[in-house]
Formats: sequence, C-alpha cells, structure tokens
Amino acid sequence: MKHIKAVIRPEKLNDVRDALEKAGVCKGVMITDIVGNGSQKGIEQVWRGERYTLDLIPKVVMDMVVKDSDVPIIKNILLEVAPIGEFGDGKIFIYPVEEVIRIRTGETGEKAL
Ligand SMILES: Nc1ncnc2c1ncn2[C@@H]1O[C@H](COP(=O)(O)OP(=O)(O)OP(=O)(O)O)[C@@H](O)[C@H]1O
Ligand SMILES: [Mg+2]
Repeated sequence: MKHIKAVIRPEKLNDVRDALEKAGVCKGVMITDIVGNGSQKGIEQVWRGERYTLDLIPKVVMDMVVKDSDVPIIKNILLEVAPIGEFGDGKIFIYPVEEVIRIRTGETGEKAL
C-alpha cells in the first residue's frame, strides 16, 4: 500500500475527485486546505501600482492510501486533470504504508482500505 499526498490547485479538486471516482481507484480521501510555496517562493503581484509578493499560496492537499496497483492510475489522472500548464500546478509525494486498520471491524491491510 502507498500513501499518495497530492498538492493541487483548489479549483481542480472537484475534477480530480470525479476522475478518481470514475476510475474506481479511491476508497477514501482526506482533504486539507493549506498554504504553501514551491520553488518560486510565491508570486509577485501588482495592485494599484504597488508591487508585493504573495509568498504563501492556497492549495489543497489530497491524502489517499491506496493499493500499489492503483498508484500508476492515480498518478496518470493527477497528471492529466490537475494542471493548467503553469507554475504552481502542484506536486505528488508517494510514501510506503506499513499498516491500515479499520477500527470498526479490526480488518487490516488492503481489506481495510
Ligand atoms: N519540496 C516540497 N516540499 C513540501 N511541499 C512542497 C514542495 N514543493 C512544493 N510543495 C507544495 O506544493 C505546492 C505547489 O508547489 P509548486 O507546484 O509551485 O511546485 P514547484 O516545485 O514550484 O513546481 P512549479 O515550478 O511547477 O511551480 C506548494 O505550495 C507547497 O505547498
Ligand atoms: Mg512553483
């Protein structure tokens, strides 16, 4: 099992969720609103002639724990649906998961996803 942490644009969340649902690859998801910065360290904006840097930009994080075999499908969906083709399109982090336990039943591993 793998933990996929995808940082995406908030306005892309619904499209990504719909695509994952359609592909049947996401049993559960945790959604968190965050602010952060990537390698550009924010964006410079001009407002009424004043330049200022917006250094923490709102993003959404999707945390999903999934079967190993679903990882390539989810990666492809994210790469296809999440970008607008500009800086700040987001990032995907993938971690190994040691164990999952469904509290109600005591089931473990993939059965508990
Ligand atoms: N190395 C990192 N560690 C932790 N969080 C990160 C990292 N890189 C990006 N993020 C998170 O992902 C969000 C989006 O990052 P972003 O897409 O701007 O990455 P990037 O590496 O700058 O790529 P790009 O050049 O396409 O903008 C950031 O706001 C931040 O929350
Ligand atoms: Mg960036």
